[in-house]
Amino acid sequence: MAHARLSDLEDVTPYRVDVDGVPVCLVKLGDDVRAVHDTCSHQQWSLSEGGLVFGNGVECSLHGSTFDLDTGKPSSLPAMTPIPTFSVSVEGDDIHVDVSTATNDAPFPEH
Ligand code: FES
Repeated sequence: MAHARLSDLEDVTPYRVDVDGVPVCLVKLGDDVRAVHDTCSHQQWSLSEGGLVFGNGVECSLHGSTFDLDTGKPSSLPAMTPIPTFSVSVEGDDIHVDVSTATNDAPFPEH
């Protein structure tokens, strides 16, 4: 079963979806879709909640840390810990996210 639909996503706009109980932030960048854990590693704010996308990063709307959508690494303080990144596959309009493991080995936040 698909976890989200490509047609529900707008370019460079974070979209939250829950996959097997894991909050995921999806971002459509042209023909690609990136998936990262939706929880900011600083103070557990939802990245899709008002988050902005700049280039290949998503900025947390609470204190402004930006996370690389490929590596999960924060590129600005106050966050210092990477967020998990996930493998995504798109078939037609169906988006599938594998949350069984983080592709960057980042720890899952406790929430
Ligand atoms: S909660 Fe995201 S930067 Fe503070």
